[in-house]
Amino acid sequence: MRSAKDFFRPLAVGAPAPVRDVPFRPSRMIHFFDPGNEKMAAKVPSIAPKVDVLLGNLEDAVPADRKEAARAGLVKIARATDFGDTQLWTRVNSLDSPWALDDLLTLGTEIGGKLDVVMVPKVEGAHDIHYVDRLLAQIEAKAGLTRPILVHAILETAAGVGNVEEIAAASPRMQGMSLGPADLAASRRMKTTRVGGGHPGYLVREDPAPGAGEGAPRPTYQQDLWHYTIARMVDACAANGILPYYGPFGDIQDVTGCEDQFRNAFLLGCVGAWSLHPVQIDIAKRVFSPAPEDVAWARRVIAAMGDGTGAVMIDGKMQDDATYKQCQVVAGLADTLAA
Ligand code: GLV
Ligand code: MG
Repeated sequence: MRSAKDFFRPLAVGAPAPVRDVPFRPSRMIHFFDPGNEKMAAKVPSIAPKVDVLLGNLEDAVPADRKEAARAGLVKIARATDFGDTQLWTRVNSLDSPWALDDLLTLGTEIGGKLDVVMVPKVEGAHDIHYVDRLLAQIEAKAGLTRPILVHAILETAAGVGNVEEIAAASPRMQGMSLGPADLAASRRMKTTRVGGGHPGYLVREDPAPGAGEGAPRPTYQQDLWHYTIARMVDACAANGILPYYGPFGDIQDVTGCEDQFRNAFLLGCVGAWSLHPVQIDIAKRVFSPAPEDVAWARRVIAAMGDGTGAVMIDGKMQDDATYKQCQVVAGLADTLAA
């Protein structure tokens, strides 16, 4: 089987080859803003220090007649702002749109040195990533960039889900992948009309209790519409050393539902989610940082396990090499976020 490295062909001349070794940087919330919206743009300097990632969105939610203004706005904001430790990402338009090429070319040449990651929507297979990868190599060479711009794919088409492993492995530039539940629902012909979250109709009903009469109450349990896709995405990302994310939760007022959705993703292996409104920033920060009691327990297990082999009992629970590794994940994340 070919590895990701086989796909990556740096230019013969120009920028140094991007390296696959993506350093982990906190990205618990990828905070979206519309760079063409002057009110939102004015808030960028005050929001930047509060988030791990600030993303200038050029794709959906930006009307067709404002695409150029959004792109120009992002260039202006990036030039004028010191982002400190906060990463700057963008979501470019999809590769089947008339804007994607200009998005990549303009942003790469004008502000490529400040741009950490390009999020590519509606990725259907490795070929989409290869195209962006090759273009970015040319743009980096043209702009004289010494640091590679990384790529993040949105998993939001049925074809993309079918090809999730090859997408994750498509390039050394791959930083991670997000679930895009709204477009994915449409692509799959699901019957939802919202951005992420659940649906009250997607449920299981308990069997009737033995002997219960006709009409006796039968509790129902709402099911998670996104479990299958998130699990597939997490496996593909973990197997290729890149990071998985839950995407958007559109019901801004439903802070409980948002927190539940984010937490499910966190527990399944995701490292962050998108925030579409300032209220979701704190939710993401809380959810995607391991709870102090979980970190304390993890450290207790690690200390008790010595070299990490064998088995010990702690509070009546068996711990062994595998729980040691799980605890290293939790404690390691806490250490990284604290660094
Ligand atoms: C995000 O882009 C989505 O479609 O959910
Ligand atoms: Mg989408």
